[in-house]
Amino acid sequence: MSALLDLLSAKLGDAFAAEGLEASLGATRVSDRPDLAQFQCNGAMAAAKIAKTNPRAIAEKIKARVESDPLFTKVELAGPGFINLTLTDSFLADGANRIAQDGRYGVPVVDPAKTIVLDFGGPNVAKPLHVGHLRSAIIGESLQRLMRFMGDTVISDIHMGDWGLQMGQVLYGLEHPDVTGVVVDGDPTLEQLEEIYPAVSAASKEDETVLGRAREITARLQEHDNVYYPRWQRVREISTASIREGFDALGVTFDEWKGEADVDHLIDDMVTAIKVSGKARLSDGALIIDVARDDDKKEVPPLILLKSDGAAMYSTTDLATIVDRVQSHDPDEILYVVDQRQNLHFEQVFRAAKKTGINGHAEMEHLGFGTMNGPDGKPFKTREGGVMKLADLIENATQAAATRMAEAGIGADFAEDERSKIARQVGIAAIKFADLSNHRMANYIFDLDRFASFEGKTGPYLQYAAVRIKSLLRRARDEDRFVEGPIVIGAKEERNLVLTALSIDDALGNAYDKHAPNLICEFAYNLAQSFSSFYAACHVVREEDEGTRASRLSLAALTLAQLELCLELLGIEIPERM
Ligand code: ARG
Repeated sequence: MSALLDLLSAKLGDAFAAEGLEASLGATRVSDRPDLAQFQCNGAMAAAKIAKTNPRAIAEKIKARVESDPLFTKVELAGPGFINLTLTDSFLADGANRIAQDGRYGVPVVDPAKTIVLDFGGPNVAKPLHVGHLRSAIIGESLQRLMRFMGDTVISDIHMGDWGLQMGQVLYGLEHPDVTGVVVDGDPTLEQLEEIYPAVSAASKEDETVLGRAREITARLQEHDNVYYPRWQRVREISTASIREGFDALGVTFDEWKGEADVDHLIDDMVTAIKVSGKARLSDGALIIDVARDDDKKEVPPLILLKSDGAAMYSTTDLATIVDRVQSHDPDEILYVVDQRQNLHFEQVFRAAKKTGINGHAEMEHLGFGTMNGPDGKPFKTREGGVMKLADLIENATQAAATRMAEAGIGADFAEDERSKIARQVGIAAIKFADLSNHRMANYIFDLDRFASFEGKTGPYLQYAAVRIKSLLRRARDEDRFVEGPIVIGAKEERNLVLTALSIDDALGNAYDKHAPNLICEFAYNLAQSFSSFYAACHVVREEDEGTRASRLSLAALTLAQLELCLELLGIEIPERM
């Protein structure tokens, strides 16, 4: 909760307590009717139920106790017993001046800070990145920035898929141009790898012998065979380089570039320990861990630790990865930003980890997300029906941004290279903001034209809003009209902007608690809108009264600082000018 809401809730709580009622009834929140009041407390309704009296009568008593507080200009009752509260302008202005001085603009760090391993991205070697990986990268990057800003220690890990059957299939493909149609001489290129995998995957479905052979190669690879292992290493290097390039371009970074293969050496000991502990059992030759519970609403099948042929599974590597993370970082939390469709997998893994105790003291949570759909409402594909490559996606977004910029006359007189740099920043902002502004669990439709618009709730709108404030402040200096001074409130647009700015701790705190970057988007958008109304109603650079001008410039600077912070947390760059 915000410092302001805390303070108000405590004041009202004292009044309830003085009436012999629970202090928690004082809980105060932002008013549903901003036309009537800034804040409201509905505690009298609950109090009346408990005390079996009339809520209005209780509300009257609370009102009588708080209305003389110099904090309030207005305390009024409405409806059955709502207590409506309006703060004095000087109190609000003090708050604004306080957060303007504070390097964190009013957002406190969390206490205690945590050590968090954040698993996101999750691309697969030799398979093209798809939009699921894109969403994971965008959401994960924002969460990593937010958690660091809040004071946590975050260790981000890309957890690359580099060890399963898919690798055996690629290695098989390298030896079988007859199956793949791709002739590889020396090292394969990335383009070749991206053709090989789907070809072998399709052939495996049709032809048992291909699948059998790919399985054999997978087993040999996992035994560090001296032919396949070095070949696999090259494939992984080539693929990783391209993944790195793609994520770099998006401004997505990882502390650790580990993959499933990096924990392979931990599997044997882990499995032995689990066997010894009696937490696993054999079933049709496979080694499984029962994880069902009596109160399960839907069936949670056992986790397969080893298949009957002794092969490790996706879940096995995830468990071994937990062992590795606990050994290396002793985290308080391990969070997984992965497509919601993998929820059952994570449920099994978490339960097995707790049952076997391998998670140490770490809490584990799957932060799922919905799908990005095409206009047909189905998971997004290219016009040709394939997966959209990250580079192509960025290219398309840059194009869409360039078109929108031309329409809006933005950058028309800039040099070509600056204009194209801005178009890229705007294109990436369009994609990221569109993705982050939906609640992560929601599915959304990919619509670049809308995302790249400079109007509405979009990334480009916010970038433009920030650039406009920058240029306003620059103009004040250039024209020698810059003065410093405290924020004072006169106009209602100033009051409204201050109220919005004072709610940043609530917005970012909730975004952090709920792992919901959409709440950052929402706050940033409200802030930009409040600023825009303020700017439409109040002169800033042209204001003649120096004190008022200083106040408005300070308010503009505070708005800019908060917008910059929010965009930074969303992973969105702000162009120097537009
Ligand atoms: N590579 C997986 C995929 O593409 C995602 C990995 C997610 N992370 C994890 N620890 N399982 O589906």
